[in-house]
Amino acid sequence: MKIALLFSSKAGTAASLRRRVDESAATLVVNEDEGDEPPPSDVLAECDSDETISAVGAALRVRHEVIPIESDEDAYPRLRQSRPDLVFNISERLIGPNREAHIPTLCEILDLPYTGSDPLTLSLCLDKSRAKEILSYHGVPNPEFWIVEPGVAVPAGIKLPAIVKPLFEGSSKGIKNNSFVATAEELMARVREVTGVYRQPVIVERFLSGREFTVGVLGNAPNLEILPIVEIDHSLLPEGAHPIYSYEAKWIWDTPERPLPIFKCPARITPGLQEAIRTIVADTCRILRIRDWCRVDVRLDEAGRPNILEVNPLPGILPNPEDNSCLPKAARTAGYSYDELILRVVDEASLRWGLVGRGGRS
Ligand SMILES: Nc1ncnc2c1ncn2[C@@H]1O[C@H](COP(=O)(O)OP(=O)(O)O)[C@@H](O)[C@H]1O
Ligand SMILES: [Mg+2]
Repeated sequence: MKIALLFSSKAGTAASLRRRVDESAATLVVNEDEGDEPPPSDVLAECDSDETISAVGAALRVRHEVIPIESDEDAYPRLRQSRPDLVFNISERLIGPNREAHIPTLCEILDLPYTGSDPLTLSLCLDKSRAKEILSYHGVPNPEFWIVEPGVAVPAGIKLPAIVKPLFEGSSKGIKNNSFVATAEELMARVREVTGVYRQPVIVERFLSGREFTVGVLGNAPNLEILPIVEIDHSLLPEGAHPIYSYEAKWIWDTPERPLPIFKCPARITPGLQEAIRTIVADTCRILRIRDWCRVDVRLDEAGRPNILEVNPLPGILPNPEDNSCLPKAARTAGYSYDELILRVVDEASLRWGLVGRGGRS
């Protein structure tokens, strides 16, 4: 097949951002009328590294012809003109609460099959409150939460300790060690900081203090393959750190040179807990209409009951095992090489879109 690989590289995204800043004085990141807050230092954290783009391209090339396309302002004409058989989408884009839906939306307009979830699911999952509201409707446990809009008073009645997160970010952007708040003063200070830096509402969630897991999923309901569960062991975080997988834990304390050994895969858990986690994850994927692949974050509450923290329908896929990227790690534990993981996603999408028989089975 001819597959277009749509990605958001760090260099391409930075160039797009510069063009945007040139064209308009006001952007989400550098907003003149909001004072002189510096842009957050993690602006490009969600973009794809060159290493990831090359590794995904190489995996696709094992069986297919690949057209690499930066997901910038020229993506639409390039997709329109190249008319691939399938779009392999790993593009996170940068601006706006619907940014992960941009490329799948272009594919819908052009009637092109694409991998992964559709625009609605991608946007619902990026907005942590909307995904949780839907899960609550279906009785799937998740921590109680409150939304605070920028400039609006923090509502009374928030249960502490809590965690303060930007409403629509990922890759632990805006989730720092001090996102854990135990007093009203800490809560106010952190809400002010996050709304100021990220220019968006915050979600304040009741803090769940139990064990934390992240779970990779391949396929489509009802045929979901739940990969071996990864545990994030907070007891191995540096002395004094709060028990959260924070920006520091993800990007500063964990380096290829000095890996932070906080991941255990497969998690050492009882068969009962394993079944409970597998069930809540499968239910979540079915309810949110996740397609092809995903990673779901789960944490136990005080009663030891699994809760959904968030759903990542565009999961991180750093290829280097030393980078501790959890979906490739879980796939490796299940016996899939990196190439096999990527080609499996192509297979799942090909099945869904009826491309099998047209060279769509890799
Ligand atoms: N309600 C919560 N209770 C306890 N820990 C939480 C909660 N929400 C988030 N965390 C911690 O913060 C980390 C990042 O939060 P998450 O919602 O997964 O954001 P991101 O999209 O950046 O991955 C989680 O992996 C977990 O360690
Ligand atoms: Mg997460």
